[in-house]
Amino acid sequence: MKSEMVLSQHWLIVTTSPLGLGCEDCHLMKLLYSIEDVRAFTQSARNRGLKIGFVPTMGFLHSGHLALMRLAGEWADVVVASLFVNPTQFGPNEDYDSYPRDVTGDLEKARSVGCDGVFLPDLKTMYPDGSVTHVSVGQLTGRLCGSSRPGHFDGVTTVVLKLLNIVESDIAVFGEKDYQQLAVIRQMVRDLNLAVTIIGHPIVREPDGLAMSSRNSYLSPTERTQARVLSTGLKKANVAWQNGLRDAASLRDLVQKKISDSNLARIDYVEVCDAESLAPIQGECVRSTLIAVAVFFGETRLIDNCLLDPQSQVS
Ligand code: PAJ
Repeated sequence: MKSEMVLSQHWLIVTTSPLGLGCEDCHLMKLLYSIEDVRAFTQSARNRGLKIGFVPTMGFLHSGHLALMRLAGEWADVVVASLFVNPTQFGPNEDYDSYPRDVTGDLEKARSVGCDGVFLPDLKTMYPDGSVTHVSVGQLTGRLCGSSRPGHFDGVTTVVLKLLNIVESDIAVFGEKDYQQLAVIRQMVRDLNLAVTIIGHPIVREPDGLAMSSRNSYLSPTERTQARVLSTGLKKANVAWQNGLRDAASLRDLVQKKISDSNLARIDYVEVCDAESLAPIQGECVRSTLIAVAVFFGETRLIDNCLLDPQSQVS
């Protein structure tokens, strides 16, 4: 049955019945444009004793984002998502201006997984004239993506702290695809005594293994085909790990060699590091280990990772 979408100023109403009557599938989703809108919405939920879950995003939603929203719905009674392409986390030569945007499609997708409210702030709402304060989480942000993208994590933590303060959710869900981002946010929440529980969601992948990302839309067909070397490289290392390989340099080589099968791939980094401190490992991996990669295809920078448990080994 054809679905019909009605976008009023404050509500997204989608019906699967042509008349919009007697529709069991109807789900109202509140569109929240201002900080006051969000506060009124979440306060009213809290007054009714409901638990609030939050999923911050930059939009152009894919199944990875939607899985986070579904998980938030398992933990909370009311789910709020945000769509905001945050300029402060992009470097001067990065893709802020060209970052893909599709608000109408995003609202429909968010509604389809049961989001109750979507915060759509504009730039001035998030960064009014005169804002100068930013949040900087130490050490962890200097490694991996932090060293390739200086200032990136300050932009992320600043906007995430602002969003957490606005929504005041009980829980917030982040993806393990951005493993370092999740680690940095957990650190910030601990250090600043925020009353929110951070929940991680495993990486959601395309059928061929490529980690889903809004940026995959930039890839040409040939780049898209070759981009699977990221996940196949990590898978190879994972198999070797299960078979007992613990030497960091050898694990790194396995991934690097596989990625080099692609003539279009330009490696930014392939790192074998401690899963907690993100410090690179020299020699034997004895604790929980993360292999993290960042690879350019043309101008498009893709990331992926694989977490390796020291206990897991095929005997
Ligand atoms: P964005 O890239 O839109 O991602 C929003 C959330 O979705 C993040 O928590 C990210 O880790 C998660 N995510 C993206 N792709 C995923 C995948 N394939 N599997 C699982 N989770 C996935 O990350 C950001 O936006 C921004 O930095 C943000 C936190 C919103 C701050 O601006």
